[in-house]
Amino acid sequence: MKGNYVYPASDRIWHWIHAISISLLVLTAIPLHFPSLRFIPLKTAVQVHTFFGLLVSFDFLLYLLNMFFYGSIKNYLPRKTDGKEAILMVRYYLWGIFRGQEEPFHPRPGRRLNALQKPAYFVVMFVLVPLQIATGILIWRAVQFQNLVNSLGGIKTLSEFHILNAYLLAAFLLFHIYLGTTGKTFWYFFKVMITGYAEED
Ligand code: HEM
Ligand code: HEM
Repeated sequence: MKGNYVYPASDRIWHWIHAISISLLVLTAIPLHFPSLRFIPLKTAVQVHTFFGLLVSFDFLLYLLNMFFYGSIKNYLPRKTDGKEAILMVRYYLWGIFRGQEEPFHPRPGRRLNALQKPAYFVVMFVLVPLQIATGILIWRAVQFQNLVNSLGGIKTLSEFHILNAYLLAAFLLFHIYLGTTGKTFWYFFKVMITGYAEED
């Protein structure tokens, strides 16, 4: 026994496909958005961006399947202790973390997310990611979806929304990776997400 098995393979697979794809989507968005930062040819940037955009759209379906058919959604459900736990976590993130205090929350199967992670991940996965996928697909196939695109304010409005949402996702990614380094050791949370096992309390 290597500890608590908190991330089954299906969770780890959708997660790492998301991680690689969205990192590459953010990277390829730089030459698309900033003409002075064309570190790769525009055509390549568009092709790679569209490829990983479609891959992440497919992976999002795996995420939903995993949430609702394999029961991962139970990790996101509210608990009676959430209010108290949220206060402890805010205190930890603002203060304890810089003083080497032990994290107040320990992941267990069925309750692997703390009271702050639950709403944060929920907003990212059920609001930001689907909106980015929807606007991306409409920009990609604007001719085929002409009526829908026009009824949503036209391609310019959709692109502006896609860009604004891209900043939110890029900010999440940076903060998410930073928090990933704040476990018992620098690599601890990354190891949990790779092997699926969290240490016993
Ligand atoms: C290189 C990029 C990434 C790294 C290194 C990374 C790392 C991690 C780690 C270590 C965890 C487990 C610890 C925790 O629960 O907080 C985790 C969980 C999670 N990550 Fe990432 N991540 C990356 C990108 C992403 C992206 C792009 C998304 C979505 C937009 C994402 C969404 C999530 C979600 C939703 C969870 C919680 C899963 C659950 O318990 O259901 N991650 N990530
Ligand atoms: C999830 C992370 C994503 C990020 C951070 C992102 C970011 C961006 C940004 C910043 C632009 C440049 C817009 C401009 O300045 O004109 C762009 C363009 C675009 N994105 Fe995304 N995007 C993402 C996902 C997607 C997805 C899922 C698709 C779906 C296929 C997609 C398709 C497109 C298309 C077709 C363009 C226009 C490319 C062109 O100029 O021809 N994106 N994206």
